[in-house]
Amino acid sequence: MRIIHINEYDEKKMTLAEPVYDNFGRVLLAEGRTVHPTIINRLRSMGIRMLVIEDELSAGISLDDLMDMPTWMDLVQGVQSCFKQTQLKKEIEPRPIFNMAGKLLDELTKNQILLPIPAATVAEELLPFAHAVNVTIWSLLIGRAMGYTALQLRDLAVGCLLHDFGKAVQTNYSQHPEAGFQLIKKHREINLMSAHVAFQHHELRDGSGFPRGIQGEAFLEMAQICGIANQYQEKLSEMNIAPHEIMELFMSLSDKSYSHSVIQAFVLTVPAYMPGVRVKMKDGQSAIVTTITTHMQRPIIRYEATQELLNLAEHHSVFIESVIETTQQI
Ligand SMILES: [Fe+2]
Ligand SMILES: [Fe+2]
Repeated sequence: MRIIHINEYDEKKMTLAEPVYDNFGRVLLAEGRTVHPTIINRLRSMGIRMLVIEDELSAGISLDDLMDMPTWMDLVQGVQSCFKQTQLKKEIEPRPIFNMAGKLLDELTKNQILLPIPAATVAEELLPFAHAVNVTIWSLLIGRAMGYTALQLRDLAVGCLLHDFGKAVQTNYSQHPEAGFQLIKKHREINLMSAHVAFQHHELRDGSGFPRGIQGEAFLEMAQICGIANQYQEKLSEMNIAPHEIMELFMSLSDKSYSHSVIQAFVLTVPAYMPGVRVKMKDGQSAIVTTITTHMQRPIIRYEATQELLNLAEHHSVFIESVIETTQQI
């Protein structure tokens, strides 16, 4: 199994390894089937940019580090239905959000490494909700690396799932963080910290963020986590920047945008190369990233020519040069 850009799909060589879902999160194409070029065109027009496929190159690779697709899709749909409800009633319903945060925490407890499904695998209508789920997953990974307790992680997850809910009631983009804050803080059962996560997720430590341009310590750590996860997800999925480049960018901004400890935790916990992508090695050979181990920058790879597996965490002289296709959007 590997992840490809839809333009790379070859009907003769590839079958779907995961289902493709429609705008409503219903299975449109089941796993195991091939996809006719006319259907590929339809998927493209729906805004689907990536597919999870099985082919000879990727035989035997199972991408166990990625979250299970149906579980992920349930969460995406769950966020969508809460958002639509909020648009209608101008009010958040906390219970389903708590349930989703709980589900994500369970997944995090079960898996040492838990990576989101690329948001580019869904239709455009679902993209904002896939964004919220993935921002939450990255944030939980960072929070766990920072030693957060289960209760803190839960507050973080609730804030992240709701971070853009201000958009349900406010069409002015620059006012969505405050609108979100107001929506969330009405509910006593939601910790005020989660409301601040939504309020501050576009702030930056040097005061150049919005809506208030707060600085230094006023920019809460939990909101910084959501902020960095939000930027990361946007750069990956909407701007199509490779993960290792984003990481270098964040590291160069240490303490200016986010505090050093948050950036440190981010680098320790978010992989530079996603499982399922093809990479070119420094020696010119092609390989597929199969598994993330303890070292986020040095995964296990499988050489395409020889099928040989190599753990880069143990082979310090072997390097990845670049990602072969533009398949890095998450
Ligand atoms: Fe936002
Ligand atoms: Fe966002």
